[in-house]
Amino acid sequence: MKATPEIAVFDTTLRDGEQAAGTRLGKRDKMTIARQLARLRVDIIEAGFPASSPEDFEAVRDIAREIEGPTICALSRAVATDIDACGKALAKAHRPRIHTGIGVSDIHIMGKFQDERYGKTLESKKDKLIAIAVDAVKRARNCASEVQFYAEDAGRSDPAYLYRMLEAVINAGAAVVNIPDTTGYTVPEQYGALIAGIRDHVPNIAKAVISVHCHDDLGLAVANSLAGVRNGARQVEGTLNGIGERAGNAAIEEVVMGLRTRQDYYGMTTGIEPKEFFRTSRMVAEMLGMPVPANKAVVGTNAFSHSSGIHVDGFLKNRQTYEIMTPEDVGLNESRVVLTARTGRAGLRSRLEKLGYELSKEEIESLYLRFITVADKKQEVLDEDLTALIHDELPQTEATIKLDYLHVYSGTAAIPTATVRLRVKGKQKEGAAIGDGPVDAVYKAICAVTGTQARLLRYDIRAITAGTEAIGEVNVHLELNGRRAMGRGASTDVIEASAKAYVDALNRL
Ligand code: KIV
Ligand code: ZN
Repeated sequence: MKATPEIAVFDTTLRDGEQAAGTRLGKRDKMTIARQLARLRVDIIEAGFPASSPEDFEAVRDIAREIEGPTICALSRAVATDIDACGKALAKAHRPRIHTGIGVSDIHIMGKFQDERYGKTLESKKDKLIAIAVDAVKRARNCASEVQFYAEDAGRSDPAYLYRMLEAVINAGAAVVNIPDTTGYTVPEQYGALIAGIRDHVPNIAKAVISVHCHDDLGLAVANSLAGVRNGARQVEGTLNGIGERAGNAAIEEVVMGLRTRQDYYGMTTGIEPKEFFRTSRMVAEMLGMPVPANKAVVGTNAFSHSSGIHVDGFLKNRQTYEIMTPEDVGLNESRVVLTARTGRAGLRSRLEKLGYELSKEEIESLYLRFITVADKKQEVLDEDLTALIHDELPQTEATIKLDYLHVYSGTAAIPTATVRLRVKGKQKEGAAIGDGPVDAVYKAICAVTGTQARLLRYDIRAITAGTEAIGEVNVHLELNGRRAMGRGASTDVIEASAKAYVDALNRL
């Protein structure tokens, strides 16, 4: 019989992960990732922050309706309207949880609650914030069966105040208390001691689960999370590939594989299905336009590659000489499936399902037509090509601007010139421009046609697979009036991919 999992895994890829600079997941992408997180068997999915936008509200609501295994959690500030929005979004969840909280460090208290209505002195503000937190937890308890409280910036807080705050919110009904190292400031011994202090000094702590939520500003998020577990935490929070605000969050695959590989040391289990890590990692990377570095622990393409003579020799004699976990453990061993122009719709659908994508009949049809064009050009279509095509062919946002036609004239002795025809809100518009290079000329032509003042912040291009006939994927980040958006385009023609990425970002803006 399988031992009961002792550590709950709380995935916040869809909330904290999505806060990574320049990223934004649409409703459909969020749902696809949520389904995959359920296959990964995370215990809790933090699906979003419903009060932040109507789209996020809908994403949380749809995930709550559909996903049955894991608890579905939604974030709120300690503000009545946020909590009510969570309650509404989670109304149909099988296991709903509201995650509410407030800042607890002196820096947060004095910085974010300057207004005198919160009190005139640090001490009076501290009392007031406890009262606000207690009200928030009580309100949340009326909207959802489970409430988790976050003590923001706990890593830099005064422990004595943190204990008071936690005691009060547990009495108010919080079943889980999250101790975020919001700024990634702590080091493992210190963070571990903070958790031990909570375990030993909060009188009613036995009624709640302690959760760890660490950021990676000093590259210590995973180490801090594990130190937290060692000292009494029974829930770990993190994101796939460690994506998130600034330097990111604890990478959930690293924390889980750390607990699993070193079970001799931690003596803990989780309910995670690690074979789903690789697939989930790639899906998240693709959807957020944040490729996984080759040397990334657990899910990097080189994480299990042995290259130096001594290592290869030892590995071939006994793989344990240089491997503490196997690629099979994290789902990296699946044989490569190659699709060709002869692969029919059923084959395409079945491969997509294996990759974790559930598409409608109409979506499969439009993807199939695109797939056939690419397969004709490229002969062999790999999984990575397919996922790039999904994002290119089935955009998240209702496109008000569409690329109809593109012509580029360029060469070593020519002035790069581009002509583009766009459909803007259904109307055809054409324009031309010259530029420093073909991509610059295309972008200037698009700007001329749309009249946009958007500024290009970033342009990244990569070949999805090897070979000159590979699909090129372009990611661009644009800024307009303080708003940022990421756009993506894929094609075997990199100029076309560049144009599509720009148009995609304009649509998102
Ligand atoms: O890092 C943090 O403090 C957070 C909270 C909102 C949980 O993400
Ligand atoms: Zn966070």
